[in-house]
Amino acid sequence: MKHLLLLLSLLLNVSVNAQTPSQAAIATAHPLATQAGKTILQSGGNAFDAAIAITATLAVVEPYSSGLGGGGFWLLREQKQHKTVMIDGREMAPAKAHRDMYLDQDGQYIAKSSVDGALAAGIPGTVAAMVHLAEKYGNLPLQQVLQPAIKQAQKGFPVTEHYQKMARFRLSVLQKYKTSADIFLQNNDVPELGYLIVQKELAQTLKLIAQHGNAGFYKGHIANKLVDSVKENKGIWQLSDLKNYTIKEREPVQFHYRDMKITSVPPPSSGGVALATILQILQNYDLQSLDEVSQTHLAVEAMRRAYRDRAEFLGDNDFANVPVERLTHIRYADGLKAGIRLDKAMPSSDLPGIRSATKKKNAILKHSSEGQDTTHFSVLDTLGNMVSATMSINYPFGSGFTAKGTGVLLNDEMDDFSARPGTPNVYGLVGAEANAIAPGKRPLSSMSPTLVETNKGMALLGTPGGSRIITMVLLAILELEKNASVQQWVTRPRFHHQYLPDKIFYEKNALSKEQVSQLEQMGHQTRVLDSDYGNMQVISWDYKMGVQAASDPRVEGQAVVFEIPRKK
Ligand code: DON
Repeated sequence: MKHLLLLLSLLLNVSVNAQTPSQAAIATAHPLATQAGKTILQSGGNAFDAAIAITATLAVVEPYSSGLGGGGFWLLREQKQHKTVMIDGREMAPAKAHRDMYLDQDGQYIAKSSVDGALAAGIPGTVAAMVHLAEKYGNLPLQQVLQPAIKQAQKGFPVTEHYQKMARFRLSVLQKYKTSADIFLQNNDVPELGYLIVQKELAQTLKLIAQHGNAGFYKGHIANKLVDSVKENKGIWQLSDLKNYTIKEREPVQFHYRDMKITSVPPPSSGGVALATILQILQNYDLQSLDEVSQTHLAVEAMRRAYRDRAEFLGDNDFANVPVERLTHIRYADGLKAGIRLDKAMPSSDLPGIRSATKKKNAILKHSSEGQDTTHFSVLDTLGNMVSATMSINYPFGSGFTAKGTGVLLNDEMDDFSARPGTPNVYGLVGAEANAIAPGKRPLSSMSPTLVETNKGMALLGTPGGSRIITMVLLAILELEKNASVQQWVTRPRFHHQYLPDKIFYEKNALSKEQVSQLEQMGHQTRVLDSDYGNMQVISWDYKMGVQAASDPRVEGQAVVFEIPRKK
């Protein structure tokens, strides 16, 4: 029977990877988080235990990116059961939230109201996700896997140039809240290099979670403090919001692109659906045989269409009726492809649907163009278990508001809702009814932790970068298709199109002058970016060649591959 199955799966070209990797690997955005994960794997933990340790440590050492006050998506692959699942730990809108909460009497967006301060914060999911991981998937007690983070919070971590850049970007809002300034600034200013950020209260909060699980955060002492502090600062959280927070296990989006089986995240992320659209459109072309300009043009046309659908159809599927099956169907992609010309761009205004109603609601806010807040990590253990997770508090340092007595810096993920149909958020993304604010709803995300499987091996990848996350993951998958090295997946220069604004945004070395001019002749509008963006963390497990990992050279992450002595 076993042989028959094996034969059948080989005939169907489905990979059979009964084997396990000889090495483990971790790639995260911070060396201290990579080290925390390694310690846990070396102490007998599995990839899920390491994922908890990494999540908690990143919450400490990258306070501008993710944290206990935020949420995320953890895409898991349990090797033994061949089970892939996503843990949705995305923030939920509080019960008192309503669709017009960021609009004035004239229906105009109130500047910064969904970005700065307690009113911008959704109910956080990271703690519930960690507890769930420990209870259902981990080998080790939560107490043990949270230790590295607790110690790091007590001991402090040194300020780097990247930290300084993030703190400079959000200096005024951090200064506005003394609870934040006391922890994240030095004498109310950007800390100097090497200054130690010590987080005693956060360590205490982590200890309560280690002891009591969810009850240490969503109920009791910490919950009371969170709610009191939010209320004192014009927020609308209630104790019942925290008590009612729940993670969801969701079935990932899966589709095929040539010989790859791709597993990515379903709503409330737009990542999996958009990747399915883009890649299934591109599957119609023999990309490798085309010149680079044509390849870029086709990728851009596919992106334009996927982001248009994102704006119209995507939102939290528990509330909106998102046609996931239709949008990820190969025939649907074929239909979209029919409107693409090889020689000419199609202006976004010629596509049906959403229009940008206002220029930019946050005109005063600079786009966080670096796309290097929010965080991704990938981890693989020697049993072949995997976690690819992207976590966020949204803007750098989230809402900038730390709840008194908890050390917990709150997210501003409410900005990922469409505050008003057609009004762009901080990433310039527009949305419609499907992503309107409602109590208990989760804001639409672009976070796209992804797994790729072929009959040669597997890969895990993801990155921060707001609206550009999806197209960065796409570009890395196209590198993988070319058999490029993991280093190349994370290093390759990037370009992006998101339907509105109707422009190709690109890193300065992504396109040559000549290529830009050719694209413009085809009708594309282009804009070179001032700085690089993204912070991708990847792992590749080739069944023959072994395990490799890479961390985006644009920031300060660390990727490691190492052996774990097997128990006798
Ligand atoms: O969930 C989302 O799509 C955003 N909150 C992610 C934010 C992000 O990646 C910030 N990076 N520039």
